[in-house]
Amino acid sequence: MQSPVCSYTEWDLLEEVIVGTIDGACIPPWHIALEPNIPTAHHSMFQKNAGRPFPPARVELARLELEEFVNILEGEGVKVRRPDKVDQSISFGAPGWTSTGLYAAMPRDVLLVVGTDIIECPLAWRSRYFETAAYKTLLKEYFKGGAKWSSGPKPELKDEQYNFDWEEASGGEVTPLVITEFEPTFDAADFARFGKDIIAQKSNVTNDFGIEWLGRHLGNDYKIHVLEFNDPHPMHIDATLVPLAPGKLLINPERVLTIPALFKGWDIVSAPKPAIPDSHPLYMTSKWLSMNVLMLDEKRVIVERQDEAMIRAMKDFGMTPIPCNFRNFNSFGGSFHCATVDVRRKGKLESYLS
Ligand code: ALA
Repeated sequence: MQSPVCSYTEWDLLEEVIVGTIDGACIPPWHIALEPNIPTAHHSMFQKNAGRPFPPARVELARLELEEFVNILEGEGVKVRRPDKVDQSISFGAPGWTSTGLYAAMPRDVLLVVGTDIIECPLAWRSRYFETAAYKTLLKEYFKGGAKWSSGPKPELKDEQYNFDWEEASGGEVTPLVITEFEPTFDAADFARFGKDIIAQKSNVTNDFGIEWLGRHLGNDYKIHVLEFNDPHPMHIDATLVPLAPGKLLINPERVLTIPALFKGWDIVSAPKPAIPDSHPLYMTSKWLSMNVLMLDEKRVIVERQDEAMIRAMKDFGMTPIPCNFRNFNSFGGSFHCATVDVRRKGKLESYLS
């Protein structure tokens, strides 16, 4: 049986993709795990409005941009699938804790596709515990169609998983991670796929235990390389190191200070300074979301319409940029790569790194 799920890289020809939804997005209850990755300016907004919907006017602007994105993808010949509606305000929990949900806007965080395997990730944020619920209809369909459907070990997310003393380091010290090694957790977005090689980072949601679990789950066909970057708040690698095509890599010049030896011989382009103005709210990320582009193949790349510097950089690098408005969606913590998960890209399992 040919699997409807099959993707080995971030750049092979995209045939089918899941695009998230911003409908029903809720502000999650405050928890220590959020602290390092919610910009300080928004902490009190999160604390005051826990469990309530995000501002409806902002959600609506983001929804319109998602529709534009879907239209562009379909116009480029990509089959687009969407998650089920889920009420994020319903309370859930496990022994020792309760939470409400967040959203189903960023499928890249929660589902990891490696070859024909679609893996539900064991997420470290309590508010995201049941986030894959929105994709169950699709997961069942893909499984029935011949995909492999897996799930990481169901975490308990007890207090032992978190470093409650977490604080930003000062005076040149290294800022610690907010999660411990109590049990395996990982977000899919901490991994970038280069065929047989997968680049990973440890982060405030992905621990060594989780990376080890994934490596053993994937088996000997794949090798996970764990890299460290100059990022005091690591969470998701796709605003740090973004493969565009075989031999072509986009890097964050503030975070990738030396090019890892694995990329010997690759053409490297530094992302231009992000264009997002300070006045624009980014509730959950840095401005480096500007790098979070989506490759439709080795040339066509979806970029934010207002980011002229990135459009120029992509053209200069031999790419064909396709602009799409997405700045209002960016407010919710992701851009084109985060808002999608590739279900199927045409391509074979190959080696690309030295
Ligand atoms: N967490 C990543 C950033 O803020 C996406 O840049």
